[in-house]
Amino acid sequence: MRCYPRVSAPLFCLFLVTTVTSMLPAQQEVVIYDEAKVPQFTLPDPLVGPNGEKIETAEAWNSKQRPYLIQLFETQVYGKAPAAPGKISYKVTESSDEAFGGKARRRQVAIQLTDDPEGPVLNLLVYLPKTDKPVPTFLMLSFYGNATVTDDPAVMLPTSWLRDNKDKGISGHKASEKMRGTSSGRWPIETILDRGYGVATAYYGDIDPDFDDGFQNGIHPYFNAEGQTKPKADEWGSIAAWSWGMSRALDYLQESEEVDGEKVISLGHSRLGKTALWAGATDTRFAAVISNNSGCGGAALSRRRYGESVQKINKSFPHWFCDNFVQYSHNEDACPVDQHELIALIAPRPCLICSAEEDRWADPHGEFLSGHYASPVYELLGVEGMGVEKMPAINEPVLSRLGYVIRPGKHDVTTLDWQRYMDFADRHVTKAAD
Ligand code: GCU
Repeated sequence: MRCYPRVSAPLFCLFLVTTVTSMLPAQQEVVIYDEAKVPQFTLPDPLVGPNGEKIETAEAWNSKQRPYLIQLFETQVYGKAPAAPGKISYKVTESSDEAFGGKARRRQVAIQLTDDPEGPVLNLLVYLPKTDKPVPTFLMLSFYGNATVTDDPAVMLPTSWLRDNKDKGISGHKASEKMRGTSSGRWPIETILDRGYGVATAYYGDIDPDFDDGFQNGIHPYFNAEGQTKPKADEWGSIAAWSWGMSRALDYLQESEEVDGEKVISLGHSRLGKTALWAGATDTRFAAVISNNSGCGGAALSRRRYGESVQKINKSFPHWFCDNFVQYSHNEDACPVDQHELIALIAPRPCLICSAEEDRWADPHGEFLSGHYASPVYELLGVEGMGVEKMPAINEPVLSRLGYVIRPGKHDVTTLDWQRYMDFADRHVTKAAD
């Protein structure tokens, strides 16, 4: 295992004063849901470089520290994804200017993910309000495909592998007419269009089906070197692949004259919130990032071990991260990075972290703290950080450039969440108040 001086140099670390009662035994299995049981931990300081040097200028951040942290996340957490294909290849497969009773444009676009014409295709669905101007747009992957986000009958059914779900009419891993609109509660598309935003979405399984098959299906095999059968220990897992796929969608959105390619927001819920954060960290073309209930491996600090831990996530979802991440199961302190540094990688672009009160598995407090401890990087880059010391109360959104909001209720995406996303985007992306 490599040695990371930045982690073992306490002089340069942030000390967190927590109400600690005890250190956890190494093989902790219980889920921590009690703040008093959160172990004492020391976070790596995002503004301390590999040799213990202080990062004191925006120049030093951009030229040295940012690439250094990206490389740590790539090799230790998500795995390194390949470069973008040289040429973007896509086909508009369906188009209408009469969606939603004539108020919107609909575009369905097949984006070729590799140079192989038989290779995987990302089927993007785009709705835009009718206007002559390029439209700022939210890009959000879905869990069950485009046809589930709306009951618009013109939307094509997914053809990739789907997780069986009786309520959604999915069996034998295949789509059916019954699935139409079954996730529409999470997608208030007309409200979004009414506020002047576009929505672009695609099914994450078009990029990589979400189950552990040793990376035999999906995008990974297309990038294996000669004789390689699975990604190396520091190469991309599924989250990195989904993020890479978001960048391919952005390639298209930036070419479309109808979309404002400078104002595309990377957004995601839960595992796709982790994905949205990593996409925004690695691809600075995203104007802003919003993570919803992203939890462990997303916005929540791993060292807190509150709710889902690194050990639990690696055990349940071994394909999400790179193999090197396994060494941090029950061993979070050894990881050279923590998730506040993922948020810092989005700076100085706007970033909104969203939690839900009952979503303890995702550790709302840990999600807040990531933003809090990323704030010095925003400030170094000359913009406001979170600007609050304490976690705000329920339903008191902090819509700073590095924002945080917690609402009542469960792990989900609600219309109230969308209102916050749009309030945030109005302030920091479309009206650019700061
Ligand atoms: C599980 C997993 C979480 C993830 C969530 C989801 O609960 O443990 O890490 O965020 O699924 O994606 O729905």
